[in-house]
Amino acid sequence: DASDIEKGTYAHYMLKEMDEQPAVIRNIVQKYQNESGEITLDQSVRDLVLGRDRVYIIGCGTSYHAGLIGKQLIEQIAGIPTEVHISSEFGYNMPLLTEKPLFLFLSQSGETADSRAVLVEAKKLGHPALTITNVAGSTLSREANATLLLHAGPEIAVASTKAYTAQIAVLAVLAFDLAQAKGVDVNFDLMKELGKISSAMESVMSQKERFQEIASEYLSESRNAFFIGRGQDAYVGMEGALKLKEISYIQAEGYAGGELKHGPIALIEDNTPVIALVTQPHVHLNNRGNVKEVVARGANACVIAAEGLELPTDAFVIPAVEPLLSPLLSVLPLQLISYYAALGRDCDVDKPRNLAKSVTVE
Ligand code: G6P
Repeated sequence: DASDIEKGTYAHYMLKEMDEQPAVIRNIVQKYQNESGEITLDQSVRDLVLGRDRVYIIGCGTSYHAGLIGKQLIEQIAGIPTEVHISSEFGYNMPLLTEKPLFLFLSQSGETADSRAVLVEAKKLGHPALTITNVAGSTLSREANATLLLHAGPEIAVASTKAYTAQIAVLAVLAFDLAQAKGVDVNFDLMKELGKISSAMESVMSQKERFQEIASEYLSESRNAFFIGRGQDAYVGMEGALKLKEISYIQAEGYAGGELKHGPIALIEDNTPVIALVTQPHVHLNNRGNVKEVVARGANACVIAAEGLELPTDAFVIPAVEPLLSPLLSVLPLQLISYYAALGRDCDVDKPRNLAKSVTVE
């Protein structure tokens, strides 16, 4: 309950919750560690997932965006084919299911009606379900076969921040544990990497003034904005666009860099803000090419790059981490830029118009 949770010295819950992210990641590491310091899940969760031939991730809003990142994690770390679906579409446009599907529900609140409708449908069909949620005892948790908790602490601000990063971290734990159970080699140590990411998050959060400057330099005058990237960066850009539109009411789109030329580039004019993420080594040059294309058409490009892939003209450099997990870090600048853009417009950051924290109607 919001009234029980203090903002302390924070102006907004959103700012407090963004600041909590390094601690949430450390907490997740602790909660999913066994006595020998290894990441492990309960055998019951392993049993639920192993032997299924495909994972169907279901979610809405920010949780859906975390699912897009999770798909890459589950496929590339655990080698299990994974699809991601928007809850409200699933019932009407149900994909052809495989023989042994596992339904994986992502929901901060565990109460979203659109997602619950899919769970009811999945159970009718006799398929198992796993819920990843922040709220123990929530509807989606009670009605699924098993639950993984986010351990993120209550999230009050309507714009979800720490639940997104917590969802990605728990999805990484799940993928990593499944890989271990299957005897698949993973070329990085998840515990170490999450520790590194938590410290890197602290360093990004300690540079808030820079994001306030970026928000005022790139977004104070504009009515629209674009986020571009490739690979994981494209999905983080979609989340950045959602954050920006939710709280600052700037019309924003997140696009895969390569798709620009198939439509959105028509909208680029003098000074159109384009926020580009460059953290994925296998496609960084392609995305640099897209940045050049928009700059040639007058865009005001704000590049946020990972260390090692940066250029002197970039607006901000984030520490380099395992590229599959870089969304945990690269989303922070986008959350902060949205926050300061909203502040600059005197918007009600914690309670944006027309939105609810938890949507319990279909
Ligand atoms: C609402 C909130 C969003 C959230 C979405 C899904 O629309 O405003 O911030 O991402 O619901 O919520 P859930 O609790 O299922 O993650």
